[in-house]
Amino acid sequence: MCGIVGVTGRENATEILLKGLKKLEYRGYDSAGIYVNDQKGNGYLVKEKGRIEDLQAAVGPAVKGTTGIGHTRWATHGAPSQANAHPQVSADGRFYLVHNGMISNFRQLKQEYLADVDFVSETDTEVIVQLIARFVGEGMSSKEAFVHVLHLIDDSSSYAFLLMDKDQPNTLYVAKKKSPLLIGVGADFNVVCSDAMVMLSETHDFIELTDGDVVTVTPSKVEIEDAEGQSVTRHQFHVDDDATASDKGAYDFFMLKEIDEQPGVIRGLEQTYIAQDGQIEVDDKLMSAMNQADRLYIVAAGTSYNAGLVGKNIFEKLAAVPTEVHIASEFGYNMPLLSEKPFFIFLTQSGETADSREVLAKVNQLGYESLTITNVPNSTLSREATYTMLLNAGPEIAVASTKAYTAQIAAETILAKGLGMLKVTPAAAEFDTAFELTKAANAIQTLVDQKDIVEDLAATHLSTTRNAFYIGRGIDYQTAIEASLKLKEVSYVQTEGFASGELKHGTISLIEENTPVIAIITDQKTAELTRSNEQEVISRGASVINIVSENLAEEDDQIVLPAVHQLLTPLAAIIPAQLLAYYTSKERGYDVDKPRNLAKSVTVE
Ligand code: F6R
Repeated sequence: MCGIVGVTGRENATEILLKGLKKLEYRGYDSAGIYVNDQKGNGYLVKEKGRIEDLQAAVGPAVKGTTGIGHTRWATHGAPSQANAHPQVSADGRFYLVHNGMISNFRQLKQEYLADVDFVSETDTEVIVQLIARFVGEGMSSKEAFVHVLHLIDDSSSYAFLLMDKDQPNTLYVAKKKSPLLIGVGADFNVVCSDAMVMLSETHDFIELTDGDVVTVTPSKVEIEDAEGQSVTRHQFHVDDDATASDKGAYDFFMLKEIDEQPGVIRGLEQTYIAQDGQIEVDDKLMSAMNQADRLYIVAAGTSYNAGLVGKNIFEKLAAVPTEVHIASEFGYNMPLLSEKPFFIFLTQSGETADSREVLAKVNQLGYESLTITNVPNSTLSREATYTMLLNAGPEIAVASTKAYTAQIAAETILAKGLGMLKVTPAAAEFDTAFELTKAANAIQTLVDQKDIVEDLAATHLSTTRNAFYIGRGIDYQTAIEASLKLKEVSYVQTEGFASGELKHGTISLIEENTPVIAIITDQKTAELTRSNEQEVISRGASVINIVSENLAEEDDQIVLPAVHQLLTPLAAIIPAQLLAYYTSKERGYDVDKPRNLAKSVTVE
């Protein structure tokens, strides 16, 4: 899971690559590298373990060129190190390769063809570049060798490759299968990138590649061949984006900026998808496809999966349609028995998550219709699903997802209302979407305006603890799962989200003196039960924080949530949890936006 950039035909190739890599850092940041060539016979390879700043510092003034490739890495095969960083180089020093993806049969290829080669890295990528050099040594041209090697790679592998041959210093060879890759088109230059956003300073016109494509890119041409070697043209699209949206301004970290943006994001969704008269304005064909389904299958990973758990409740209550939520990486290889008329909803902030994309490819093969709800227009899952609903939340830069989670829940609410109206459910008829979402947005605003309360609680309860628990019942349990993911991923406090009633069936043995237990209580039906579960942990020494809806609040409750519709309480309850995660991480001195071992976009299965 990594980020790739390439450029040909620009005097300042080094600068363009480094700038692009900085923006791609969200895809991985444990090592990085570039190779540039100046067309006068000089090639420069620089690789560093660490962040892009470390690479920038290592790139001296002599490293200049007009064509080059770059890579930021999130380790899969081989630990983060300079040797394992890309570009990987063939033993003869002629070929340079960057790769995003995973070659499943690299060990077999190594054994079969390269038993006599001394490898300098542990990567699957080095096997590919050494193989290319081997076949060129046996008489093939660079391109023939590249294509030949692509055919030796097994079906379960994924790749976005960018190859340079020192002897053809203004040519980039490109290949893509499953991993995202775009060609950016310029005047007398061209670029290649994992994500259009990172090259918007160079061009706004991009070509979408199809799996199996092999492309030859020079400053003046882009030649695409499909998997059968036939020359093809691919769809070109224009991307307008507001580059200033990726600026953190006065904030110390993007995560806090993005938490603060949530009321605006929800209001934006209302404006886009709800008419003045309250009618849901979503593609009619999409609504009709959903209406024909006898069951919805929500497929997602991580925080998006957690937003799906909340969505299930909303779809079942408002639209009365049975809804299943599945972890993408599980669903892809262990598909449950599907209903007669399934409809698939992919929730994905980035639109690039490999686990989700793998399921979408299978769903497409089976011939079912699908919807991708995403924040990134033209992303892979958006392009490959039948329908797309955009979140328009603006770039989410912090690795920990916040505004995409609440936006996904708001989007699911809008769809559930639309579907419920088609199905004529009483619950949908009663539910005033614009009113309820506005109320939720206002509640979020109130909560983000009371940051100091949460900051103090983080300092007193979470700044030194080793572990913590979130508990809740029903919809509060779903929020607890996301709340615990937020806290653990940015603060490294081992945190579990638990169904309150389940705690006493084993896990309560982990409660010690001062273990923080954070209870979410928004449902009248179960409020007293959760409070009594809380007493069980208090009597074993736990220090408790309560996040409670206004109508259920008691005197000592530390965080009181303004009233929102019962179905939408996760939109309010998650806000203090996001803030607790943020302040705990900050208090402990971590880089909140870039937690260790994580990347924003997970493009390997
Ligand atoms: C956690 C987080 C991840 C993502 C997951 C799916 O804060 O951001 O768990 O939610 O990797 O990513 P998307 O939504 O881009 O498919």
